Amino acid sequence: MKTLPLGSVVVVGLGLIGGSFALGLKAHRLCREVVGCGRSEATLQRALELGLVDRIETDLAKAVKGADLVMLAAPIGSTETLLKAMAPGLDGETIVTDAGSVKGNVVTAAKAAFNEMPSWFVPGHPIAGAEKSGPDAAKVDLFRKHKVILTPLESTDPRAVSLVQQLWQAMGAEVLHMGVEQHDSVLAATSHLPHLLAFSLVDSLAKENENQEIFRYAAGGFRDFTRIASSDPTMWHDIFIANKDAILGVIGQFNRGLEQFRQAVERQDSQAMLGIMTRAKAARDHFTQLLAKRAYTNTMSDKNIIFTAHAGGEVKGRIRVPGDKSISHRSIMLGSLAEGVTEVTGFLEGEDSLATLQTFRDLGVTIEGPNHGHVKIYGVGMHGLLPPHGTLYLGNSGTSMRLLSGLLSAQSFDCVLTGDESLSKRPMGRVAKPLREMGAVVETEEKGTPPVRIKGGQKLKGIHYDMPMASAQVKSCVLLAGLYAEGETSVTEPAPTRDHTERMLRGFGYPVTVEGNKITLKGGGKLTATKIDVPADISSAAFFMVAASITPGADLTLEHVGINPTRIGVINILRAMGGKLDVLNEREVGGEPVADIRIQYAPLKGIEIPEDQVPLAIDEFPSLFIAAACAQGTTILRGAEELRVKESDRIQVMADGLKILGVKADPTPDGIIIEGGPMGSGTIESHGDHRIAMSFAVAALRSQGDIVIRNCANVATSFPNFVELSRKVGMKLDVAEAGE
Ligand code: S3P
Repeated sequence: MKTLPLGSVVVVGLGLIGGSFALGLKAHRLCREVVGCGRSEATLQRALELGLVDRIETDLAKAVKGADLVMLAAPIGSTETLLKAMAPGLDGETIVTDAGSVKGNVVTAAKAAFNEMPSWFVPGHPIAGAEKSGPDAAKVDLFRKHKVILTPLESTDPRAVSLVQQLWQAMGAEVLHMGVEQHDSVLAATSHLPHLLAFSLVDSLAKENENQEIFRYAAGGFRDFTRIASSDPTMWHDIFIANKDAILGVIGQFNRGLEQFRQAVERQDSQAMLGIMTRAKAARDHFTQLLAKRAYTNTMSDKNIIFTAHAGGEVKGRIRVPGDKSISHRSIMLGSLAEGVTEVTGFLEGEDSLATLQTFRDLGVTIEGPNHGHVKIYGVGMHGLLPPHGTLYLGNSGTSMRLLSGLLSAQSFDCVLTGDESLSKRPMGRVAKPLREMGAVVETEEKGTPPVRIKGGQKLKGIHYDMPMASAQVKSCVLLAGLYAEGETSVTEPAPTRDHTERMLRGFGYPVTVEGNKITLKGGGKLTATKIDVPADISSAAFFMVAASITPGADLTLEHVGINPTRIGVINILRAMGGKLDVLNEREVGGEPVADIRIQYAPLKGIEIPEDQVPLAIDEFPSLFIAAACAQGTTILRGAEELRVKESDRIQVMADGLKILGVKADPTPDGIIIEGGPMGSGTIESHGDHRIAMSFAVAALRSQGDIVIRNCANVATSFPNFVELSRKVGMKLDVAEAGE
């Protein structure tokens, strides 16, 4: 079996890719010698001069004889010819791989040259091109942090695949596996079409003599859009021939999009134009985030962001935490279904609410922004949503999935809702059950978990639902479906839960009645666009309330915090523990009460948390447990089994973390018992739960040593500038990515 370093490696074709591969081999000492092969004597000589290869050889069969590995990096049109030429030198021991941008035709060429696909041939494709070509363009780190796609067939020898994979990884590349066809259709869209368009645009403009003149005035836009039109024409000619069908498919798709845009311009249809451009901008911004390796939706779940919270620090000053997550979600949902344009300020630009925003774009709504918390939604009316093109991905956001399940159950089209690893484990049966009673067709996995599959076109009827648990998400889901149901829909809740849906429905002019614990609305009404000012999220503010409450000398003011009575459990509980919190400057903004909250340090004592406070502080328990750990005496929580089905099992995960820090924390089925005492140091696993991560960052204000917290990427779901604000008030928080 071959292992690294190899003996002789032959690189056929010493352009940008072949040359860089050769340099990579040498730089990382992955083989004894690199032999360069190719058609052009001049290129080979240049490669030798540049030190890309150790020696050159023009006879391919001779070059590959006894070699451990051959890399084919010549234009793909020549693959069959080259394979036939090297065949006499191959003995079944040499591994052959390639770097072609199309894989289907490489497989066909190999089959033609050897009568069958040889087991030692590993088709591959590094996604690391550039518009520059030739040996002079070669770069030693071209593949570092780039993706390489391998498309082995079933007949390919796994040992050969593994060796090729190791080589790429040694050069810093990230290796993925894909089927041949999938590779070719993905690449047709992401690479081949853009190149074709760039060539075509420049050619169309340059053809006219008088147009030559305009190039003089062409600035950034033209330069950025057409950079790739100076790529190697021979190479691209071969690609367009080799991937003909897939490319024709995406050209057709593009032509239809272009025609729609043309018509929107012709009709001067601002909403259609803004729709196209805001969707495109959102998609491109998302892509920029991916490139910058910053937080965003599904890409983050596989990144391990690590917080190191250094012991000590202070908590002082005035800050405003980002907008309320619950209200931000609802503003997009109701704004989209309203008639007219809804303007939102203070919108939370966190991944969860952005997932909702993106979903409504996918459902055909034009949404401008977010731009510094400002969002403009062009409502489509109760019946104006359009079928999405694919599944709706909701990342980590339970609120999006549960509320949307209600709303989408009443539409005329089918949808599938999916989420990340954590969301995929969360219970959706609790919304599917009442929706089915209303006549919706909703399916989940056997355990009641996502994906949620909804069959559209059902006529819903109003129900009365007695909620078995205190859940604002379930309540909101039923009420949103009720907007479309025949007759009255009502929900009774076992304990008061956040009432943002009810308040906002009224803000959009939709009548909702509340009698005691029963909320009722009638289907068939309409929503009228309005203005929404989203207050700062009390759930994000809670981390700083606890931070200030446990840090001697702390004095912090949190501005413009939403103090809806269904959300203020954290203030009540901290006060009951002896915390000094002053609610100042109370006012009402767009139907929601708001205040500034000043918190000063005061010694805390353990308490039995009143059960009626549980739903009012449901998201704040992770940070309250840290307060309990810093308090004198015992804190007991009961009646909080819902905490076990949040983004993580928050009772277990917090108990585990506190124990690591040396705090006595005993989980119970519906709560926890925490003995206040000194906190040491340690490494905590947050299980990708944003609120666990932030809570332990706060704990370091009182710990004796540093606290390292793993898996913190999801902090961006609710509180994208948490680190920045923590540092601003005097906490000592460092951030790194594992493996960097
Ligand atoms: C939310 C309701 C709560 C809360 C979640 C947001 C909402 O969930 O935990 O973060 O916006 O309706 P439950 O309704 O499941 O308690």
